[in-house]
Amino acid sequence: MPGSSERFLEKGPSIPADMTFLDLEDSVAPLEKESARSKVADAIKNLDWGDRIICVRVNAWDTKWTYGDVIEVVSNSGDRLEEIMLPKVQSAAEIVALDLLLTQVEQNCGLKVGHIGIEAQIETTRGLINVEEICAASKRLETIIFGPADFAASMEMPVLTGGVQIPEYPGDHFHYVFSKILMAGRANGLQVIDGPFLKIREIDSFRDYCNRTKTLGYDGKWALHPDQVTVLNEIFSPTQEQFDRAIAILDAYRVATEQDRKGAVMFGDEMIDEASRKMANKFVARGARAGLKPSAK
Ligand code: GLV
Ligand code: MG
Repeated sequence: MPGSSERFLEKGPSIPADMTFLDLEDSVAPLEKESARSKVADAIKNLDWGDRIICVRVNAWDTKWTYGDVIEVVSNSGDRLEEIMLPKVQSAAEIVALDLLLTQVEQNCGLKVGHIGIEAQIETTRGLINVEEICAASKRLETIIFGPADFAASMEMPVLTGGVQIPEYPGDHFHYVFSKILMAGRANGLQVIDGPFLKIREIDSFRDYCNRTKTLGYDGKWALHPDQVTVLNEIFSPTQEQFDRAIAILDAYRVATEQDRKGAVMFGDEMIDEASRKMANKFVARGARAGLKPSAK
């Protein structure tokens, strides 16, 4: 949600997303940056956001606005604000700097130290080179996000639209980037999210793109429009069949290990073991988050 637009901010709570971020960065014009801070804080405090995660994207450290964004927004939003998103992160030091600043602001405004988590966007070549250190830079880090539009600009790719497939390229031009960010995030226990798809009217291509990062293991993707939210909730949630099968695997594995004292057993016509339990756990957790209930047997 662009933080300078009261109209968009007011619409935010009606959109069924797991997380909403109110933006002070690239969707806000330079002349509106400072006045957007209080609009964002008021929207967080005064609107009913339900149980979604609320985050504010501040401006990057290479601008003049970052510290002012953090101090004003964190001091005035109350405890409903849970995360700050830092864009264009280039090094671990940028995360450490934000962590230290947050600690002081939390102490001064009466929030518990550590209340605010950090989401980091990887969207520059230097950020990708340093992604492993970035993901390990602070206990506050919760999420790592790929930013395809800025990344294409940073790479000087000859494209004019961010986050979409390039038909002339044989394969997926971001495959390496997706995998590298995913591995760095998972190695540090972070949630890993894919960024925006800018052709908001092309829902079929959007669906195709969601499937790519979902299949690699990403936890979700940004939406720039309510129609994209609908597709995301469908693609990133397990089906009822997958959910039921994951529960059945966990049940069978529990019987095998706890009653029969076996580590590997047959489940239908496939073998399951400890790794199967880990895979199944992820489906069950995601399905429960999406509101699925086990089918009656
Ligand atoms: C998101 O911020 C992007 O640059 O893709
Ligand atoms: Mg960006």
